[in-house]
Amino acid sequence: MEASEDGKIKVTVNGPYLVSGALPLARQTIVADDDGESVAWSEGERYHQHPHYALCRCGASHTKPFCDGSHMSAAFDGTETAVRAPYDELAEDIVGPDLILRDEVVLCADARFCHRAGGAWNLVKQEGEEAVETVRAEAELCPSGRYTAIDRETGERHEPDLPLSVGIVADPHEGVAGPLWVRGGVPVESADGHVYEVRNRVTLCRCGGSSNKPFCDGTHLEAGFHDDE
Ligand code: FES
Repeated sequence: MEASEDGKIKVTVNGPYLVSGALPLARQTIVADDDGESVAWSEGERYHQHPHYALCRCGASHTKPFCDGSHMSAAFDGTETAVRAPYDELAEDIVGPDLILRDEVVLCADARFCHRAGGAWNLVKQEGEEAVETVRAEAELCPSGRYTAIDRETGERHEPDLPLSVGIVADPHEGVAGPLWVRGGVPVESADGHVYEVRNRVTLCRCGGSSNKPFCDGTHLEAGFHDDE
């Protein structure tokens, strides 16, 4: 089954994410190196592809990543609080000699790819091919799109090539489960019908604890969120 270009994710009032368009669903695991730094993604279990499915948003389902109706008994408050403005308006630029590192900290899902080699926010200020390549790689691995690397001379944005799909993030180094990684430019529509800016990569909260719903803000780490009960 092909993923449909019409695929989208609908946020429901205090309920799950309704996914349509046969978007492929798979585990996506953050791979850490021997120093514990996040360095790569590893795709794991692929779920059977359905035209429509409902993913847990409250964190309480017994059949994660799918919704089982537990948001009702949990009295989940899924009020969406994210600012409805484009990324470029909200983000700040860290300007280096070769690259601009655009940064919207509120979107941070704490996947930590930007920490390696001294931190993308420091490296971007350095000259040289190695620093440029590292900043680009770190920005492209960022699942939430908090960071974007932009070529200063040409204005080109370096974006990873991501298929239309949804990832269920696992973070074994921290011993937690993470957000939904929405990839390839899937529209996300709020419960009241607003379509958030369509981006190549965003992360949606599925632990129920984010203060920036529907987006992940890294709270799943402090909350020790797990996929199992
Ligand atoms: S999954 Fe990251 S804050 Fe909920």
